[in-house]
Amino acid sequence: MAAPVRLELRHASGVTPILIGRGVADEGLAELAGRLAGGRLFTISTARVMALHGEVLELLRARGIEPECLVAPEGEEAKRLDLAGELWSSMLRSGGKRDSAVLAFGGGSVGDLSGFVAGAFLRGIRWFQLPTTLLAQADAAIGGKSAVDLPEAKNSVGLFHHPELVICDAALLATLPPRELRSGLFEIVKVAALFDPPLLDAIGAQLEPLLAGDAEALAPIVAEAVRLKVEIVVEDPEDRGRRALLNFGHTLGHAIESALDYQGLTHGEAVAFGMLFALRLARRRGLEADATEHVTALIGRIGLPPLPPLEPERLVETIARDKKARESGLGWILPLGLGQGAESIAVPAAELDRELRRFLQSQS
Ligand SMILES: NC(=O)c1ccc[n+]([C@@H]2O[C@H](COP(=O)([O-])OP(=O)(O)OC[C@H]3O[C@@H](n4cnc5c(N)ncnc54)[C@H](O)[C@@H]3O)[C@@H](O)[C@H]2O)c1
Ligand SMILES: [Zn+2]
Repeated sequence: MAAPVRLELRHASGVTPILIGRGVADEGLAELAGRLAGGRLFTISTARVMALHGEVLELLRARGIEPECLVAPEGEEAKRLDLAGELWSSMLRSGGKRDSAVLAFGGGSVGDLSGFVAGAFLRGIRWFQLPTTLLAQADAAIGGKSAVDLPEAKNSVGLFHHPELVICDAALLATLPPRELRSGLFEIVKVAALFDPPLLDAIGAQLEPLLAGDAEALAPIVAEAVRLKVEIVVEDPEDRGRRALLNFGHTLGHAIESALDYQGLTHGEAVAFGMLFALRLARRRGLEADATEHVTALIGRIGLPPLPPLEPERLVETIARDKKARESGLGWILPLGLGQGAESIAVPAAELDRELRRFLQSQS
């Protein structure tokens, strides 16, 4: 069995240790218990995660900590402002104070909600992450970004608030449906295509065990993805430069998710379609055919469902609104070459409209 990996993310408010490996939940929760000097621990999770893996929290009970559970809905439904409000109220009612802490125990949706809830409650309380999806372990739980959605746009209200400890136990991934494993792999392909071609190859070479949820195969892939993300976040903690490149695939991806009302595709799948489209735009600007084909082929091998029917007008509108509201002129993130990063490019409206129609047709 590969040894656990311990990485550290340094940021303005301190250092976040990140534990990665099969079976690290025990060690991680013991550390969490040691760090909690009194105070309540509010665990935010979903019914499914509690039913499948709730017993790992016994370790906290054994150390005298009651992980009071607050249940959120499954999936993106968790990232709602009114739900955050309900959680704040129930935390206050059950005696939540400045010395209370939050434990996020679930996928990226639970993580994003929990970070937001912890970051704003009484102007910010401590929080910990025990992510249970591949996407959350490899990406969402790292870097301190959290947000909820508004009907107008995804992730539109949020904050930066770093967890005190992140525990990525690959054993928890064994119960993930293959589709959720694929979704996580797509988000790893995103960072690997831009910064780490050997990681792309490792995914390609190990696809079968990875899609079977094999913890021994998953742990080193998670560790490498986290290492890359830490490097990028340390360089650009507030998402003003290099970190924004991690939005590769997300401009169209978010618009697809919003057009579908967050139903029918996972976040990673929507991002994968977004990457395929960005690769086409990049190809028109000189990205080598080899690089385009390499990433496109790997996305195809991982396996995407058919893209549901979408109206190009609605996507273009959502993209324009999103950009105007949030990205102050930030353009499309287009790869420069395998492992050579990306650039942010403004794509003219007419080209976007034409290419998007072509892309949607090619997927139907
Ligand atoms: N904050 C960030 O930096 C960041 C980065 C990437 C993505 N995200 C966000 O993450 C969200 C997507 O997260 P996700 O892909 O983890 O999906 P998710 O959190 O919506 O989880 C998907 C489903 O899997 C279930 N599940 C979780 N763990 C399980 C397990 N071990 N076994 C079986 N089922 C399990 C969940 O209950 C849920 O129903 C999106 O909202 C995205 O915007 C945030
Ligand atoms: Zn994402």
